[in-house]
Parts: sequence; structure tokens; C-alpha cells
Amino acid sequence: MPTLAEHLNSQNVPDRLSALLGDITDCCQDIAALLRHGPMNDILGLAGAENVQGEDQKKLDVISNDMLKDALAKSGLVKGIASEEEEHCVGSSKDGDFLVLFDPLDGSSNIDINSLVGTIFSVYAAPDKDNIADADFLRPGHEQVAAGYVLYGPSVMLTLTTGQGTQMYMLEQSRGEFLLFDDKVQIPVDTKEFAINASNQRHWAAPMQTYIADLLKGETGPREKNFNMRWVAAMVGDVHRVLSRGGIFTYPWDKKNPNKAGKLRLMYEANPMGFLVEQAGGKAFTDTIRILDVAPDNIHQRVPVILGSAHEVDICVAYHKT
Ligand code: F6P
Repeated sequence: MPTLAEHLNSQNVPDRLSALLGDITDCCQDIAALLRHGPMNDILGLAGAENVQGEDQKKLDVISNDMLKDALAKSGLVKGIASEEEEHCVGSSKDGDFLVLFDPLDGSSNIDINSLVGTIFSVYAAPDKDNIADADFLRPGHEQVAAGYVLYGPSVMLTLTTGQGTQMYMLEQSRGEFLLFDDKVQIPVDTKEFAINASNQRHWAAPMQTYIADLLKGETGPREKNFNMRWVAAMVGDVHRVLSRGGIFTYPWDKKNPNKAGKLRLMYEANPMGFLVEQAGGKAFTDTIRILDVAPDNIHQRVPVILGSAHEVDICVAYHKT
């Protein structure tokens, strides 16, 4: 099993990008080590503040955000950082080659129940200028040069793309290395599994109501097959399942919060996951357009997300176009 560095080298990934991915994933190993100690280090529970999204920050949100910021500052490869936990971008090394965006601990409400969480990251080439501002990050997802996540589960796994397919690696803890175990992740085009927070059903728009109602009718309904439902409540966990065995995952717009376009963030969640899913043969849409083509207007912008098995995403999006 090749290591991450060996595999990136075999793909001719440029040295500096490969070094950056090494630095990010080394830091994720440190976050994994912290998570393994759980309640022992007084790292669980609330930090006592809200993030820019108005959500309660967990202590581990803050700790993992600081760890990634420090690691990226030390790397010298990064010109600017944007994080779900920071109101504005943070400048880093003036001669850095990359902009990095991350959600340091996705699904953090799962921490206190010892369930799946993960770190999601997205990498762009840095613009040729000295002082980085939020506006420099507002680029569509199809310009990403790499994206990935580390899932802190029973195994610690890295899923990564540099635009040459999607690969999965497993942390071999005794060696402190991510080892490649799937060099061509492929999402089956058809599925019988869907993921949605069904408690929001009464708030969804009509097309999503009809789509899910048709799935629930099973083999006697218009879809003529029975569907299973899963919800991890951490996007990393749900997307990992979709990448592993197919499925459709959606967090749609809902009128609970009509002023928000959706719950999930374009830059820290939808774009990196969209890149990984497309590189694995799947599709990723808002309710009507390809996620990677959305022109961002704000680093903390939210979007509806529909992603996964290609045929199923097509069907769901078609409900929204009629
Ligand atoms: O964006 C944060 C997040 O935790 C995602 O990882 C996850 O898919 C979603 O929110 C869970 O939302 P809910 O709390 O509505 O189940």
C-alpha cells in the first residue's frame, strides 16, 4: 500500500501541493489523537461563544481550528486561510502558493456522543498579490486544485482528489502514515438509499416534498423500488457512505429559515464534497445548478445540496426543474 506522498508522486502532483497536503493531513493526525482522548482532556462541550454563523462553538471546533491555522502558517506554502470558524480570511505567508479553506470539525454536534466527525478542506492556487482579502476566495469550486476530508471514525480515513479521480487512504497509526487503499473510488450511478434530515419535512419546498414522498412509496410507487434511509448528522459521514456504496445525500433549502439558501456552506462543505463526488463519477447540484459552477458572493455563503449517485441526482434535480 503506497503512502500518501508516494501516491501523489506517482500522479505527478506538484511537489509544493503534495507538501501542503502532507502538512494538512499531519495536522489531522494530531486532531485524531486529541479526539481519541475524548473526555480525558476536558476538550468536550461548549466553548462558550458563537461562530460567525451564529452557532454555538464546541471547544473542539476552536481547538481544531487553531491547530489547522498554526500548521498552515508554519508550512510557509499558504498565502491565505478561510475557515468556517473565522469571520474573515486570515493572511499567512506572502510567498505562499495556495489559498486553503476548511471546516475544522464538521458535524461537531456528534462529538459529545462519540460519533462521526471530520475535517473538510479545499485548496485553490493563490492569486499573484500580497494582501489577501475575502474577495480573493470567491472563486467557483471548479477552480479547486485539491479537496478532501479526514473522517475520524472507527478508522481514520482520508478521502482526497487533486483532479485525478478520488482516492481513499487509511491512517496506519503505528507508522503515522496514510496508506492508499482505494485508488479509484466509484459511486454507483443508481441507488436505493437516501439521506435527509426528515424532521424538516414540513419546511421543504414542494419539489423536495414530492421527490421524498415518491421514494417513500417504495415498490408500489412511481419509483418502483424500496428505498432505505440513513442520516449521520455529519456531512463527512454521510458523504463517506455515498462515496463508499452510493446513495443520494441532500440538505435542501427550507422555509424554517427562508432567508438562508440552505444549511451547508458552499466554500467549506459543498465545494470540496462536490469536487470529490464528481471525481468519483457522481453528481453534485444545488436544487438546479452544478455546485462547482456557483459563483460565490460571500465566504460563508450557504447553498442547498443534492449529491451522490448520478442517476438519482438527475432525477431529484428534474423534480426541481418542472
Ligand atoms: O454543517 C454542519 C452539519 O453538522 C453537517 O455536517 C450535517 O450534514 C448537518 O449540519 C446536520 O444537520 P442537522 O443538525 O439538521 O441534522
